[in-house]
Amino acid sequence: MSLLETDLPIVAAPMAGGPSTVALASAVTDAGGFAFLPGGYLTAPAFDALLTEARAAGRPFGVNLFVPQPGALAPDDFATYRAELAGEAAALGVELPTGPTHDDDAWRDKLTLLLADPVPLVSLTFGLPDPSDIAALRAVGTRVLATVTTPGEALLAADAGVDGFVVQGPSAGGHSGTFDPRRPLVDVPTDSVVRAVRAASPLPVVAGGGVDGPAAVRELLAAGAEAVAVGTLLLRAHESGTSPTHRAALADPGFATTVVTRAFTGRPARGLLNGFIERHEPAAPYGYPEVHHLTRDLRRAAAAAGDPHRLHLWAGTGYRAAVEAPAAEIIRALVPG
Ligand SMILES: Cc1cc2nc3c(=O)[nH]c(=O)nc-3n(C[C@H](O)[C@H](O)[C@H](O)COP(=O)(O)O)c2cc1C
Repeated sequence: MSLLETDLPIVAAPMAGGPSTVALASAVTDAGGFAFLPGGYLTAPAFDALLTEARAAGRPFGVNLFVPQPGALAPDDFATYRAELAGEAAALGVELPTGPTHDDDAWRDKLTLLLADPVPLVSLTFGLPDPSDIAALRAVGTRVLATVTTPGEALLAADAGVDGFVVQGPSAGGHSGTFDPRRPLVDVPTDSVVRAVRAASPLPVVAGGGVDGPAAVRELLAAGAEAVAVGTLLLRAHESGTSPTHRAALADPGFATTVVTRAFTGRPARGLLNGFIERHEPAAPYGYPEVHHLTRDLRRAAAAAGDPHRLHLWAGTGYRAAVEAPAAEIIRALVPG
């Protein structure tokens, strides 16, 4: 079964928090690819506004949602990490929240909007919802993809009724979609994860993680992916909404490597190694979204102040190949010759 009916086997990965804009999605679609827009972090009204803007742009698009997480952070652990971050907050003149916030990222309201006015594809990350939610989306004609990082997760997703997988390798920028945030992310090439998932299930695969050029695209297609998702390579695209501080860091030779960190959000995510990670990774607890809410204002202030050492600089291992250019050029340069 084919998931996408596009000229090119290239997908703009959803990047919540600013980078993925409707303008970026339109540019990727016009270049022959397919684009996902991120529903994560948005309130239901903001999500509704994004859908309205995307529909007005007149191209097909997919939507990505964060699956609700179980409450994970005890109040004592929250307080300990809050105290750990006091100096960072003071440096930026930010007041940290006094208690943990848990939320479900407005899951039910977002689902209701997508059921009322369906989109062709919905991708899920951070695990699986109740199978009845997947069935409800499929009943209105939406095909549902689960982000998976292992063959075991793929089998669980297939049992829950999805139409296909977004296989995310550990070299991917941003949050890992792992169903188990405490499982250490083993450093394996994305194509080997794709092969393992393909061996476990016949469902179609979009694959991403660490793509830095056409050779990587060719490898993932050869491993059995129907299309290849790119995130990091689009972070510096003219049409992306990446903050100037993040853009500058991606091009700064002083940022020499990426690491997987939970220091910013309590969930493993890959980003450029910076001062915040160096200072706080050892003390950082697991606990998404509580840690995300704890550090959110601090990170916003850092971005506004142009401080790359207190901001999450999400990036995959291919970040050196991310260039400042129109998205169409970036997409076309990825097509294997
Ligand atoms: C800034 C940023 C934000 C991201 N936000 C999301 C998101 O909202 N939902 C999601 O499923 N994946 C998210 N990801 C992961 C991407 O969808 C994708 O797996 C990853 O970018 C692919 O690896 P690459 O960055 O090496 O190309 C994000 C990645 C980045 C870099």
